Amino acid sequence: MTTLRDLTFWPPASAYRPPIALIGCGGIAKHHLEAYRAQDLQVVALCDVHRERAEKLAAEFFPEASIFTDYRDLLSQSDVEVVDVATHPEARVGLIEACLNARRHVLSQKPFVLDLAVGHRLCDLADRRGVQLTVNQNGRFAPHFGYLRAAIDAGFLGRTHAAHMAVHWDHTWVEGTPFEDIKHLILYDFAIHWFDIVRCFLPEATAERVMATVSRVPGQTLMPPLAATVALQFDQAQATLVFDAWTRYGQQDRTVVIGDAATAVSSGPDLQRQTVEITDAAGTYRPELNGQWFSDGFAGTMLELLSAIEQGRTAAIDARDNLESLALCFAAIHSAETGQPQRPGSIQRLPTA
Ligand SMILES: NC(=O)c1ccc[n+]([C@@H]2O[C@H](COP(=O)([O-])OP(=O)(O)OC[C@H]3O[C@@H](n4cnc5c(N)ncnc54)[C@H](O)[C@@H]3O)[C@@H](O)[C@H]2O)c1
Repeated sequence: MTTLRDLTFWPPASAYRPPIALIGCGGIAKHHLEAYRAQDLQVVALCDVHRERAEKLAAEFFPEASIFTDYRDLLSQSDVEVVDVATHPEARVGLIEACLNARRHVLSQKPFVLDLAVGHRLCDLADRRGVQLTVNQNGRFAPHFGYLRAAIDAGFLGRTHAAHMAVHWDHTWVEGTPFEDIKHLILYDFAIHWFDIVRCFLPEATAERVMATVSRVPGQTLMPPLAATVALQFDQAQATLVFDAWTRYGQQDRTVVIGDAATAVSSGPDLQRQTVEITDAAGTYRPELNGQWFSDGFAGTMLELLSAIEQGRTAAIDARDNLESLALCFAAIHSAETGQPQRPGSIQRLPTA
């Protein structure tokens, strides 16, 4: 019988080590490559419209990799089986489409798409081409979130009915980057990880209404509002998300998930350093967690995709499932814009794209 001590959230071991390509060698790509190298994965091609960015990453992580500046050359000239697409969402749709049409499996960075209908079209295309389309929700493989998912899936919390997450951190590093121009930087680009994980924590509940607020904070110079709250009403469950993106001192990150058999709490000063406690009638258990969201989470998503390909099953990070997380996100943003509660699924496009 599985106990809290033996729980694992890591994808099943796979001997499948196909040639992989990465398109988009910007800020986040080094974390992908660091994780893939640590897992002995085979990255054989790197592509960026800025050649020097691809060359720099190749030199650091995979010196043998071929360099491309045009993804069409990459797809026609290399034997890659899996493509990791790590550009921003606007540039991604055409890239993903081309990869799927060339019958390559795809791992897309998040947020997956700006329009749910486009997402469904890409998922249908992947089905027709017989390949997997997945989304890099690496938060699912952050050790604390991964452990909580596994505990919930194995039934240790019983039926879960509440999830409350509060993140108090400093996101002002985006100053001067393209992220500064994203109006709903917090609720869209950042919070998508939480809209995704909250569904994992309340797997039996259906979201019925979403209410959200955003505010600027005194002294902020960045355009996007740096404070946001979300309340999610489910049938027989509730969730709240709190984001304080300009916490200069005493940063903190806390998650509480309540079930009828146990309560789980994860807390720490940031996403990388978290301690989990599961309390039930027998007492409190604190698992020893190894790894960190950055970069181990990226190993988790790629290994999950490879394992799913090898086993011929749908990956846990399947893009069609991800559209449900995006539906919560879009509804929250529309709620913040209008001051009115929204039904998930009623808002098809990122309201301020
Ligand atoms: N999962 C996570 O934890 C996480 C963390 C940070 C960023 N992200 C996401 O990753 C994505 C990229 O973020 P970033 O910070 O790396 O951005 P970035 O702007 O630093 O990098 C994007 C790169 O894509 C390249 N590019 C654009 N169009 C291209 C094309 N047609 N062909 C080849 N290359 C192309 C650009 O030249 C650039 O180098 C965003 O969607 C962001 O939200 C995810």
